Amino acid sequence: MIDLRSDTVTRPGAAMRAAMMDAPLGDDVFRDDPTVLALEARGAELLGKEAGLFIPTGTMANQIALRVHCRHGDEVVAHRRCHIFNYETGAAAALAGVQWRPIDSDDGSMSAQAVAAELRISQDTHVANTALLAFENTHNACGGTVLDQALLEAAVACAAAQGVPAHLDGARLANAAIASERDLAELAAPFATVSLCLSKGLGAPLGSLLCGDAQRIERALRLRKMYGGGMRQAGVVAAAGLYALNHHRERLAEDHRRASQMAEALARLPALRVEAPQTNLLFFELAADHPLSTDGFEAKLAQAGVLIHGSERRFRAVFHLDIDDDDLERALAAIQALL
Ligand SMILES: Cc1ncc(COP(=O)(O)O)c(C=O)c1O
Repeated sequence: MIDLRSDTVTRPGAAMRAAMMDAPLGDDVFRDDPTVLALEARGAELLGKEAGLFIPTGTMANQIALRVHCRHGDEVVAHRRCHIFNYETGAAAALAGVQWRPIDSDDGSMSAQAVAAELRISQDTHVANTALLAFENTHNACGGTVLDQALLEAAVACAAAQGVPAHLDGARLANAAIASERDLAELAAPFATVSLCLSKGLGAPLGSLLCGDAQRIERALRLRKMYGGGMRQAGVVAAAGLYALNHHRERLAEDHRRASQMAEALARLPALRVEAPQTNLLFFELAADHPLSTDGFEAKLAQAGVLIHGSERRFRAVFHLDIDDDDLERALAAIQALL
């Protein structure tokens, strides 16, 4: 099967598995697993933050961040289609007890003007107070888009002027760094906290990092235990994350190139409207008058050996470590044959 459903489907290769086998281990709840500590230090260094914390998933990292920054009843300003509110099972409401003030845009950006209009810092007892501004880079639902750094910095500065910090869901920040030819630390700089997934394009089997200043990460450590994310000999998987951080960032450019190549070829099919990809996520829409349904398109492609996921006629093909040029050609041929 050529699996284009997500960049989370990769399996660790031989060198990553060897790093896992050789990892020195301890008990990370006692904070004495040397491999976890090394991963956290390396993540913090790359993101230009004081401290890092290894967390089982991106969802847990984001949700802990909400809890670090907010009190129940607070408001968070974020993009309408962001992951932290739309695809984390309602955890923002259930666990952090926050409500959301959404901002719309086609590409996941939020301008300083738009943010200024939604910030609410008030003595009025009717009004919930804004405790956090949350960005997502790359922006998944908007097409794997890379946010304009200057625009983003202006918005974060506008919130900071009102005493409101910012969190970045950087699940795919490594993709944004490669696509924009900037350092991770530069992209992370405006934010008080940043989550980064090791299990997506970077290709580790699991894990995310939450990085920020020492005080907030200390608070996150307590919350990680509360949320059931304290792991014991976690170095065995942290080793994979460390390997991924050190060896799999530069190669993301290959995934971006393959996404662009497929986009160019698919754009020639009249039944499809293709969104130009900026990173490894390629979205395309099947014409409303085409006889295949969303499920039908997925099922036919699966019969041809290609897994792809869609919703309401919009499909996402994701390029990753386990997709090479041959897979790209075969997936393309299967879609062309089907349409
Ligand atoms: C932008 C974004 N943030 C967060 C997550 C959550 O990551 P996890 O699946 O590790 O919980 C995802 C997962 O797809 C994502 O795309």
